[in-house]
Amino acid sequence: MKIRVINGPNLDQLGSREPEIYGTNTYTDLNNALKKAANTLDLDIEILQSPYEGKLIEWIHEKDTYDGLIINPAAYSHYSIALLDALKMISKPVVEVHLTNIHTRELFRQTCMTAKGVLGVIAGFGFDSYILALTYLKNHE
Ligand code: DQA
Repeated sequence: MKIRVINGPNLDQLGSREPEIYGTNTYTDLNNALKKAANTLDLDIEILQSPYEGKLIEWIHEKDTYDGLIINPAAYSHYSIALLDALKMISKPVVEVHLTNIHTRELFRQTCMTAKGVLGVIAGFGFDSYILALTYLKNHE
């Protein structure tokens, strides 16, 4: 089973980005943790990141290249109708993840536009949010 992971803006800055909120582990650490979990679960994983909304949409559109999608749209989660529309087109399972519990943060983060277009959302468990999503996709292969 091929899983595509799409990460939005600023996630590549993990480690130095607001460490009091996002911790000190880096984006490379996240990638390594995901590759290790995918290997254990016998999943084929591809991890992508871009700050550009249009690029994220293009990667969602490439639905013939993956069997399941994990997406952290980052700040776009809160207002991107374009990403929501792209996600709604996908008939493959899509899980949205967030490192932090967006529901306990600023009010503007508690609106989640993209969540309306996915199967489910896992938020607040750091890197484990992604690993829980991988486990879900594996269990529903
Ligand atoms: C985030 C939460 C968003 O509100 C924020 O804009 C991010 C990261 C998270 O993973 O916790 O960039 O998606």
